[in-house]
Amino acid sequence: MLTFKRADQHILNQDADLYVGYCPLNSIPEYIIRDFSTLYVPLADYIKKRNFIGAAGSQLTIAAVHKQKPVMLMLVGLGSEKKTATDRLENMRRATGSIIRTIEQIKATKAALCMPEHHWLGVNEFELTKELVATAMMAGYHFDQFITDPAHKLTQNCEIILCAPALLHDQMAVGIEFGQRIGHAVNQARQWCDLPADILTPTILADHAARIAKVHNLKATIYDEATVKKMGMGGLAGVSAGSAQECRFVALEYKTEHKDAPTIVLTGKGVTFDSGGISIKPASRMDEMKDDMAGAAAVISTMEAIAHLKPGVNVIGITPIAENMPSGTAIKPGDIITFYNGKTAEVKNTDAEGRLILADALSYAVKHYKPDALVNIATLTGSCAAALGPFFAGMMSTHDDLVEKLTHASQRSGDRLWRLPFHDDYKKAIRSSVADICNIGNETYRAGAITAGFFLQNFVEETPWVHLDVAGTSFNVPDMSYYRPGATGFGVRLFIDFLMHFEK
Ligand code: BES
Ligand code: ZN
Ligand code: ZN
Repeated sequence: MLTFKRADQHILNQDADLYVGYCPLNSIPEYIIRDFSTLYVPLADYIKKRNFIGAAGSQLTIAAVHKQKPVMLMLVGLGSEKKTATDRLENMRRATGSIIRTIEQIKATKAALCMPEHHWLGVNEFELTKELVATAMMAGYHFDQFITDPAHKLTQNCEIILCAPALLHDQMAVGIEFGQRIGHAVNQARQWCDLPADILTPTILADHAARIAKVHNLKATIYDEATVKKMGMGGLAGVSAGSAQECRFVALEYKTEHKDAPTIVLTGKGVTFDSGGISIKPASRMDEMKDDMAGAAAVISTMEAIAHLKPGVNVIGITPIAENMPSGTAIKPGDIITFYNGKTAEVKNTDAEGRLILADALSYAVKHYKPDALVNIATLTGSCAAALGPFFAGMMSTHDDLVEKLTHASQRSGDRLWRLPFHDDYKKAIRSSVADICNIGNETYRAGAITAGFFLQNFVEETPWVHLDVAGTSFNVPDMSYYRPGATGFGVRLFIDFLMHFEK
């Protein structure tokens, strides 16, 4: 567990195991050199010798003595000021990730950090503190609850002392509060993803949503499998048909006190395990499909965070949740299913199941909430992961205004998006000769991420809508100091920022 507090800028007044300064490229702050030199006299020479110039991703640690106690000094590089503000802020996040790793390595229980310069990072002190705290919490997350050997546990309890002049403390206090809410929400989404599918079943995830709603006074509507069938949600019922687990359909509602506020629906794919069904997946890496509910996790966790942070918009989080398994009762290639909005689809491949459950969720959202904006998030296609890799999620839409809002939220929050072409030319890929549409794209059109998006488009009517494919970004992202092997919680930071900044 990490805790955070503020202190004045005299970092050495703090009793800590680790003292840290953030350093822009070729301009190590003078006060850091001055303070650190008092604990380690040849500091300037050592920095030169080790060729530390503040490059992005670089760090320098030095053992020293303070008040007769062994301490560690650490300099972390922020990179060049010539980079965009977005990149500079991201470098700050990564530097923060490496600080947390050092805290874990040296088992520090107190770490004092000189706050970096907010102007240099293109943000105000509130935003800087929020980003720093959220990132530190993300970096401190470990899925180690099943590791019984204490020597193999990585989680470190540490108090992080953020040092800056007193006139910044009010902004920092709010930043700490927001950062902790965001960090908690991201890590909670990651934990749900990392939990094995026999533990995090559809009913259990729905129970988490119900608990959150109860604690935070959100309205919750939860349909069980019998109700899902009765309501005509053939996609969700179909995907769940082969599983011994019951499916759930969950809608959480946050209402702002602002009059005439817009209504935004977020909907997330919640496949607690995707074996592929009868169109079964190959064995290698099938275990990763316990994360196929990353979209739903992001949506439910976001709802909890905004219940505290109170954006001035109405927000509905809708998650269809099921397990995709083969069995004698499973849907089969060739089956035709009817969705909540009455449209039909031929199921040519039972592994293209995310779009089937989202079809019902989107139809439900449009019918019941008539939203001003509709955003869905899903680990939808291997094709998107292949195209963009682990660092950017695919964004598909024909609504430029909404794309622009999400792009800004993406740049501010660090959850990066890349827009894919979404031209009608791809539409014909999902024609079917026996139903309204087919659940896989015709081979000649390739572009599986985009054709999946066009499948979903059938269920949103005229609603301003964006589809996010997070198949590549939701788990096992390499080289990022604030992630670990396992889930990333992608989408939570994005959505919170998007909702907090939404203007009609
Ligand atoms: N959950 C998968 C997509 C996925 C793949 C997510 C890899 C994360 C990593 C999805 O349900 C799926 O299986 N999609 C198929 C669709 C195909 C059958 C048209 C795919 O991408 O192969
Ligand atoms: Zn699948
Ligand atoms: Zn899937």
